[in-house]
Amino acid sequence: MRVTLSFATTADGFLDDASPQRLMISSPEDWAAVGRLRADCDAILVGAETLRRDDPALLLRDESVRRRRRAIGLRPDIAKATLTASGRLDPSLRFFTKGDADRFVFSTRDLPALHDRAAVIVSDEPSTACRIVTELEKRGIGHLLVEGGAHILQLFLDEGMADTVRAAVNPALTLGEAGYARFAFRPPAGKSCTTENLGGMRVTTCELHPDTAAEDRLRIRQAIEASRRSQPCATCYRVGAVIVTRKGEIFTGYTHEHSATHHAEQEAVAKALAAGADLRGGAIYSSMEPCSHRASEPESCTQLLIRLGFAHAAFALYEPDRFVDGRGALTLREAGIDVRAYPDLGGEVRAVNAHLWH
Ligand SMILES: NC(=O)c1ccc[n+]([C@@H]2O[C@H](COP(=O)([O-])OP(=O)(O)OC[C@H]3O[C@@H](n4cnc5c(N)ncnc54)[C@H](OP(=O)(O)O)[C@@H]3O)[C@@H](O)[C@H]2O)c1
Repeated sequence: MRVTLSFATTADGFLDDASPQRLMISSPEDWAAVGRLRADCDAILVGAETLRRDDPALLLRDESVRRRRRAIGLRPDIAKATLTASGRLDPSLRFFTKGDADRFVFSTRDLPALHDRAAVIVSDEPSTACRIVTELEKRGIGHLLVEGGAHILQLFLDEGMADTVRAAVNPALTLGEAGYARFAFRPPAGKSCTTENLGGMRVTTCELHPDTAAEDRLRIRQAIEASRRSQPCATCYRVGAVIVTRKGEIFTGYTHEHSATHHAEQEAVAKALAAGADLRGGAIYSSMEPCSHRASEPESCTQLLIRLGFAHAAFALYEPDRFVDGRGALTLREAGIDVRAYPDLGGEVRAVNAHLWH
């Protein structure tokens, strides 16, 4: 998944003022550009406080975009998501009642009053950006737009889960004491940023993580080819893996290649270590999500990849909860590893695993 943060602030860094009315910070030109950005995304996320204060509908306004989406079998509006710890969300909010979209609520408690309006995704702990990204990705979201407010934007930045940040500043508007929800974004040193003027708004766009999709797809296809060499087995998936070290050395492996208990990632790692390769900062590509639980080995593939210091992991399909409740991608993300999933490459993976995928 790619994650874009987008917001507008006053010159003194406020997202809103303290009045009950919604404050319009953007120019019409900037607002139109945000509309086009929304149309390029699969889901939009805002915090519960933004829903309570502004009651936004979060719809796609351009009728031609809605028609195009319908024509390719998508719902006319992109999915909407929010998060709450208190559960204070009124089912009559426009988030729940307007538009034709999938809706997700991340919560620390079940919210039966919302069951007929949204999918409530419950966890015992406060939501993290890693978890939100992983859960939405499992539900088919490929590009998430995070629009605020301040708490939610900070959550994603603190966890390193923002790929692109679009910050629009109105240099003619200051609020001082009347301001609410201050949010300061300073581009980290060395990141590439561009600035443009949109109807008087100063819009800065920064790429925090390079787009690795082309290389990821190429290597995942190689991993899928490797997976074809493993034998069908009743208790595990046929998986392939490709490692690319920072020096550009390449190692491949597939399920049970040399050991009856080894997963594809272990086989590729064993070859790399035997060749004396340094795996720190390297990338690993698998046809399926690396496992997070092993009964027959001392550590899972996820633990192995974290221990060896991999920086990047990409795979085609999440592991279905058939043998274990998979937490591989989430655990890797929580350890600071950049993780990307490409479910559109999953057709071949399902075909290779037709013995299990009924
Ligand atoms: N100018 C812009 O571009 C823009 C865009 C969006 C929003 N805004 C403004 O931003 C303001 C709101 O910002 P805000 O920072 O006060 O609130 P917010 O970020 O919209 O939402 C904060 C709320 O999200 C929930 N939350 C936060 N972290 C959580 C976690 N880890 N787990 C579970 N729930 C969590 C909590 O809800 P509960 O209290 O329910 O537990 C928390 O009160 C509004 O005034 C809005 O107008 C401006």
